[in-house]
Amino acid sequence: MKIGIYPGSFDPPTLGHLNIIERASTLFDKVIVATMVNGSKNSSFTMEEKADFLRRMTKHLPNVEVDTFGGLLADYVSEKGACAIVKGLRAVSDFEYEFQMALANKKLNGNAETVFLMTDQHYLYLSSTIVRDIARHGGDISGFVSEEIREDIVNKLYQPKE
Ligand code: COA
Repeated sequence: MKIGIYPGSFDPPTLGHLNIIERASTLFDKVIVATMVNGSKNSSFTMEEKADFLRRMTKHLPNVEVDTFGGLLADYVSEKGACAIVKGLRAVSDFEYEFQMALANKKLNGNAETVFLMTDQHYLYLSSTIVRDIARHGGDISGFVSEEIREDIVNKLYQPKE
């Protein structure tokens, strides 16, 4: 069985992430979406909240599983017997960082190939940071995140001024 792992900090997951998951699910027998820790970012949502968001967003995809992992991605790839790490590339600016991570993962685990999917043009500008920022200021995030999780994101981030 060909297993692909789609890792990310998903803080929160967006429609851009969902687009990558849907496309990866047609390329692999199974896709594991793994909420992981990016050491250079502070998270607004807990790992469990993010995993719950991802499960609700992907319930229409029978070959997609959601998991959380606090260790190294290269080790997780071995543990799950995966054949590839899936990453989305939005712009040239993503390339250098992604290239560095792909090479580091390959060095740590010779079997950890990284496959890049070009982010759909509708989501080129999108990031979790932008979604958090809009939600915190009371803006409408309905075009950026799945309807199933929109209210939970707003409830956590938006504190209307008295
Ligand atoms: N649509 C919309 N947004 C997208 C996107 C898409 N298709 N693809 C990426 N993004 C956004 C993400 O939301 C994220 O936004 P943010 O910076 O506002 O949080 C940004 O682009 C970067 O995404 P990504 O490159 O996937 O980074 P990440 O922080 O989400 O995930 C980990 C990085 C968790 C995969 C990485 O830190 C990791 O592997 N950690 C485990 C520990 C480890 O092994 N470290 C060594 C790695 S060599």
